[in-house]
Amino acid sequence: MTYPRIDLEGATIAITGAARGIGLATAKAFIEAGAYVALGDLDEALAVQAAADLGDHAMGHALDVTDKSSYAAFLDATAQWRGLPLDVLVNNAGVMPNGAFLEQSDRIDQLTMDVNVYGVIHGMRLALPGMVERGYGHVVNVASLAGKFPLQGLAVYNASKFAVVGLTAATRLEMEGTGVSVSTVLPSAVRTELSSGIDLGFLPTVDPEDIAAAVVRTVKTRAGETSVPGYVGVLANAHGLIPGPVMRAFRKVAHDDAAISRVDDDVRRVYLDRIEKQ
Ligand SMILES: NC(=O)c1ccc[n+]([C@@H]2O[C@H](COP(=O)([O-])OP(=O)(O)OC[C@H]3O[C@@H](n4cnc5c(N)ncnc54)[C@H](O)[C@@H]3O)[C@@H](O)[C@H]2O)c1
Repeated sequence: MTYPRIDLEGATIAITGAARGIGLATAKAFIEAGAYVALGDLDEALAVQAAADLGDHAMGHALDVTDKSSYAAFLDATAQWRGLPLDVLVNNAGVMPNGAFLEQSDRIDQLTMDVNVYGVIHGMRLALPGMVERGYGHVVNVASLAGKFPLQGLAVYNASKFAVVGLTAATRLEMEGTGVSVSTVLPSAVRTELSSGIDLGFLPTVDPEDIAAAVVRTVKTRAGETSVPGYVGVLANAHGLIPGPVMRAFRKVAHDDAAISRVDDDVRRVYLDRIEKQ
């Protein structure tokens, strides 16, 4: 599939959950490539401050991706900012509660699906029609390795990220021939607040800048799926072919229940308190 080339110099980009972590690193990477970036976040003050720190190629705005009208207001403000249409949307906002499935609250389950799944659905429903009309545009949905590989202690997060992988793959097919691409990026563990306090030592851990570089790269490659690091994607796609007993032995040695058993509760509490207030 070929797509009209997107020139990042002067392009308009919107990123959700961009006040910190991967979203903020991605905003920086796009600005370094010459683009103008609207940073949307539930933490409006942090988004506005982050944008001010980034300079005149950045704009901070309030956004709750679970609320379609809030998402629409963010995209309207992005379009009005420079009087130019959106070239690239990055659906990055996400939450990751951890703990045994039977101990999770209904409210946090709902929040996880609302932010991680409906946030992405709202964004695509709102941004894709204009892109299709223009025959030009790109959407990147930040999923996770957890969208391919089940992990104990992350069941509902797994469910939400499996959903994003399927959602992206199907919409990508529907967009064929329109000039608009939809891609997903699947990070392994990343050093941000979201994974803080969990010793996911068996997973390769990368920096937010590594994910940011991969997101920017998709504007050129338009690859359907990009895993970071790349080999993790190969393993995640192949794990279903490995015999059950071998996989179970590997999981045991690798402490695949780290999100339950290898948690520093004091460190983790800071993040969990943040998302419980959402
Ligand atoms: N950190 C990791 O290990 C890791 C690994 C794989 C995938 N991911 C994914 O990467 C994405 C970014 O994660 P991160 O590590 O940068 O997390 P983070 O917690 O550092 O940042 C996420 C940002 O999203 C914002 N946010 C949360 N709910 C929102 C809502 N309803 N509306 C708007 N903004 C909202 C938060 O305020 C925060 O600023 C998430 O989708 C996450 O699932 C992270």
